[in-house]
Amino acid sequence: MCGIVGYVGKKDAQPVLLDGLRKLEYRGYDSAGVSVVDGDRIASVRAVGNLDNLEAALVQATGAWAAITPEMLAGTVTAAPITIGIGHTRWATHGRVNEQNAHPHYDNRNRIHVVVNGIVENYMALKQRLIAGGAHFTSETDAEVIAHLVSSHRDQCDTLAEAVRRSFLELEGHYAFVAMGLDDPDTLVAARKECPLIIGRGDGETFLASAIPAFLKHTRDVQVIEDGELVVVTADEVAFMSPGGAPIDREVTTIDWDEETAEKGGYETFMLKEIYEQSDVVAETLADRTLREDGVDLDDEGALDESILANVDRIVIVACGTSFNAGLIGRYAIEEWARVPVEMDVASEYRYRNPILGPRDLVIGITQSGETADTLAAMRLARERGANVLAITNVMGSQATRDADGVLFTRAGLEVSVAATKTFVCQVAVLYLLALRLAELRGALPREELVRLTGEVRRLPHMIRELLDSMDVEEIAQQHHAGEFFLYLGRHAGRAVALEGALKLKEISYIATDAYAAGEMKHGPIALLDEQTPVICIATDSPILDKMISNMQEVRARGAHVIGVASEGNVEIGEHCESVIRVPQTDWMLQPLLAVIPLQLLAYRIARLRGLNVDQPRNLAKTVTVE
Ligand code: F6R
Repeated sequence: MCGIVGYVGKKDAQPVLLDGLRKLEYRGYDSAGVSVVDGDRIASVRAVGNLDNLEAALVQATGAWAAITPEMLAGTVTAAPITIGIGHTRWATHGRVNEQNAHPHYDNRNRIHVVVNGIVENYMALKQRLIAGGAHFTSETDAEVIAHLVSSHRDQCDTLAEAVRRSFLELEGHYAFVAMGLDDPDTLVAARKECPLIIGRGDGETFLASAIPAFLKHTRDVQVIEDGELVVVTADEVAFMSPGGAPIDREVTTIDWDEETAEKGGYETFMLKEIYEQSDVVAETLADRTLREDGVDLDDEGALDESILANVDRIVIVACGTSFNAGLIGRYAIEEWARVPVEMDVASEYRYRNPILGPRDLVIGITQSGETADTLAAMRLARERGANVLAITNVMGSQATRDADGVLFTRAGLEVSVAATKTFVCQVAVLYLLALRLAELRGALPREELVRLTGEVRRLPHMIRELLDSMDVEEIAQQHHAGEFFLYLGRHAGRAVALEGALKLKEISYIATDAYAAGEMKHGPIALLDEQTPVICIATDSPILDKMISNMQEVRARGAHVIGVASEGNVEIGEHCESVIRVPQTDWMLQPLLAVIPLQLLAYRIARLRGLNVDQPRNLAKTVTVE
């Protein structure tokens, strides 16, 4: 979730870039930097920490340069006929947080600078080739490879545009980048593969950014760069092209967004935006951790010592609310793949259980905010009792990172909506990674199974994108939005999906819901069923799908409405449901991550049809810092 900005025009580029970065800072900010063409050189300043640090470094580096003034932004301060520059805020995915790893990255002659979002999957092979050709790398990032690659091609061709195009053909992964070169001092060239990037067209100036808020105060005229396209940008012209070099026409659209709508990416609410971001944020979360074919790497900065993972006797997961539900999916994956026993409890219960813990126990606290009082208390207690503690959190520097022996970060970016969506899927993704790493360290899975599962995990962002593009819950929402009670049923990890689906619906629509292990239904909740009751049944493919189908038949026999969530391609399931929501086919243990997504949208649509404020449901707080 890094942020990119680029500018070509008559304003002083540096303050414009810095101001744009401030609008993107919510995407992550462990370091930042800007580069501008300054006469016969490219001047670049990078700094660790937030943008105040970058601003201070810029003032120090340039002396003359001070804080942004309204005149600078209005363009009444001009530095040169055309100024040009690129900027970046980084949230580390690859390599430690330090100045060398901050963007922009540049080649050895300081003639090509790039800012990059996302991940270059084949960077190792490219890096080796470039080093053999004389390139000298100064960072640990995959992104730096692009600077050297573009530079090597620039030596062989006439324009930066052609050099970027040739580079693009060689790069694998999901990324967006902007390149700037000293030999083409009026041109920025950008390319996009899956990660977002958008053009802003001003009067005699052009902007590039990973999100519209970065340039909204300057222009509302935008051009979308589609997936797999390149774009050559000057102050007055923007030329789109295919990777083959063919020109592409692209219309300019004028958006009528205010700042708040822009922050919502044009969606009507933050929750909807965050639901639709889930493919990107899972890709960010997996990124460098799934580059290896036969397993995953969790050697992140601050991660737990792997000898602890290799020797642990038991894992205990503690969390609250949605994070607990993510943990429940993780529990099944860890037990299935790594064969380590996992105990679960909600943190508010666990902390008062007088828990029995020792040095061969690993306690995992899952908390997106990193500040939930009960989860922190449970983690502290575990530490006092000699257990090792791992935090899974979305927020760098949060209290959870200080109360743990190791941290695994989800990389969901800021979640604004009170109801958690994108942080949930990232937590589940991290737990899958952890389960696979544990399995490998402990020799619990054969190599071919590790290869297969790692491949399936790597495909998750694509499957989520496919699902987001195709899922349609409108008819179900229209039919049931006035309902008074919904029951959710699932078995095994499907029970966690049921719990999360039910939690989402109750918290934003205020409809009473219950979620049960489907096998328990006969022991009580079946009494609640009548002809009005919608029953959401998690029936994705699994070794116990037959058992789930029996439960669905029991529900149907009571006249209730069975709404199934099933795997693509399972035709038979349709016979047991009134409506079916389909999710892409993958390994059965990964299906729960996908199955939650349409239930988030269903809860969302029902709440909207009831006219409710989904981003800020009554009585709820985003971060619960009290007991
Ligand atoms: C539900 C929701 C809450 C949180 C819970 C824990 O949508 O967001 O249930 O999951 O308050 O919060 P964190 O993960 O910050 O510890």
